[in-house]
Amino acid sequence: MTARNIDGNALAAQVREELARRAAELTAAGVQPCLAVILVGEDPASAVYVRNKVAACEKAGFRSLRFAFPADVAPEVVFGKLAELNADASVHGILVQLPLPPQFDADQVLEAISPEKDVDGFHAENFGLLLQGRKSFYPCTPWGVMKMLDSENVPIKGAEAVVIGRSNIVGKPMAVMLLARGATVTVCHSQTKDLAFHTRRADIVVAAVGRANFLTGDMIKPGAVVIDVGINRGADGKLCGDVDFASAREVASLITPVPGGVGPMTITMLLANTVESAQRALDARRSV
Ligand code: GUN
Repeated sequence: MTARNIDGNALAAQVREELARRAAELTAAGVQPCLAVILVGEDPASAVYVRNKVAACEKAGFRSLRFAFPADVAPEVVFGKLAELNADASVHGILVQLPLPPQFDADQVLEAISPEKDVDGFHAENFGLLLQGRKSFYPCTPWGVMKMLDSENVPIKGAEAVVIGRSNIVGKPMAVMLLARGATVTVCHSQTKDLAFHTRRADIVVAAVGRANFLTGDMIKPGAVVIDVGINRGADGKLCGDVDFASAREVASLITPVPGGVGPMTITMLLANTVESAQRALDARRSV
């Protein structure tokens, strides 16, 4: 079997078109969706991510604000900016790009963002709501993965799902979202004794470990759906995922490529959360 690709670029374009339409409606009603992005330091990958987020906002007709601080900025300066953005009714989403320099406690920074504007879905309150199966801003990458699975009508209820990676950004929320939809979920990580034992039983595998070509075809059940969240540089300097694409595609039924898979969906769901936040702001204004 040779797997079919799930085309993240095509799905992202389709969803973004709908979001641009909703943004235009909101703008016409007096609430233009607005995302504020904070970048601290000179991490080149973070700079690219932030540039892409700002560009995606502008293309969809959102207002975007970008604040860049030097790596040695005092934390109070960033907390001051967050307080200002929290209080600004014209701002609907606030995002602090991670990782942060060592003088910051990332949890403290994420907690300083108003949960109503936490379009990354990283605030403990939103994370807790997600865990309880209540309304929240869903973290963008796992939510994008769910959209990709749904776009292909992948059965989730009753499926065996294995998530490799236990980060707060991807692995943990991914497991919770799959669980909420009725999958039997196993979370594997760097201390898992026999990874292949688990992955070979999985109908759906989500790889989010951050190690190039980590999941190989021999570890995958024939016909499984393989989602690759990794973005790594291979030995050849090229961008590659956590999945060894060449061997995995010979075994899987559906697979996401890198680049052009999950990546474009992450920014798309950030736009979706920002539109949702703007909609809530408009609804609140109408109800007074
Ligand atoms: N760093 C890596 N991924 C993300 C993300 O989705 N949001 C933020 N804020 N920082 C990140």
